[in-house]
Amino acid sequence: MRMNERLIVALDYPVWPDAAKLVGSLPDASHFKVGLELYLASRGEAVRELKSMGKRVFLDLKFHDIPQTVAGAVGQAVLSGADMINVHASGGPAMMKAALAARDRASEGMAKPLLIAVTVLTSLDDTDIKLVGFADATASDAAVRLAELSKGCGMDGVVCSPHEIRPMRQRFGKDFKLVCPGVRPSWSEKGDQKRVFTPSDAMGEGADYIVVGRPITRAEDPLAAYRSIIREMEAGTDGR
Ligand code: C5P
Repeated sequence: MRMNERLIVALDYPVWPDAAKLVGSLPDASHFKVGLELYLASRGEAVRELKSMGKRVFLDLKFHDIPQTVAGAVGQAVLSGADMINVHASGGPAMMKAALAARDRASEGMAKPLLIAVTVLTSLDDTDIKLVGFADATASDAAVRLAELSKGCGMDGVVCSPHEIRPMRQRFGKDFKLVCPGVRPSWSEKGDQKRVFTPSDAMGEGADYIVVGRPITRAEDPLAAYRSIIREMEAGTDGR
């Protein structure tokens, strides 16, 4: 996979024209993430627009509901043309299995989008994870446990912090996709992300994809920031 497919730019914008301007300023970028804000602001148009520009789209809506409801939402997400979609692993095995079945049904005769499970949000640290009810675990333990459940259900991979790449790779092998937000080049602000890694270290640990938003979207020169992150990723993989 080329490096520009492995760097996913998070388009967290309140209106599509601002996102479109950023996309236009990044001619090298081929993979974008549409989250709740932009999806709702654009009434779903953002996905169609990006697909019509030939871009890959990670539709990050993080479904978490009863199995029947999530299955319906996943079916619609597939029809939107997204290349990667996600649900929360903490929705449980029945929900993940229903999501997988819905993905397979809706994508019959077309390319199947990857279906990924969110483990623990990278904005949560060990104190937060206890507050939300994982009383006996650190954020990393909880993430690995949720990834185990996801893998057992047949999910294609997980969203996880770069801190968990190593134990996840060891346990789940090379085909289980690891998608990592919480990545910050040394020159950028951490913002609300608590468990961060540099692009080079995340790739060195074995991430398949890294997700980067503000260090690119809020940079004075987004293209220079994008290219510098690609160079850092290349340094981390040593040509792998
Ligand atoms: O701006 P920043 O680089 O922090 O953006 C990271 C993106 O990744 C955000 O769009 C956020 O919603 C998303 N994300 C995350 N942690 C997860 C899953 C998704 O930060 N566990």
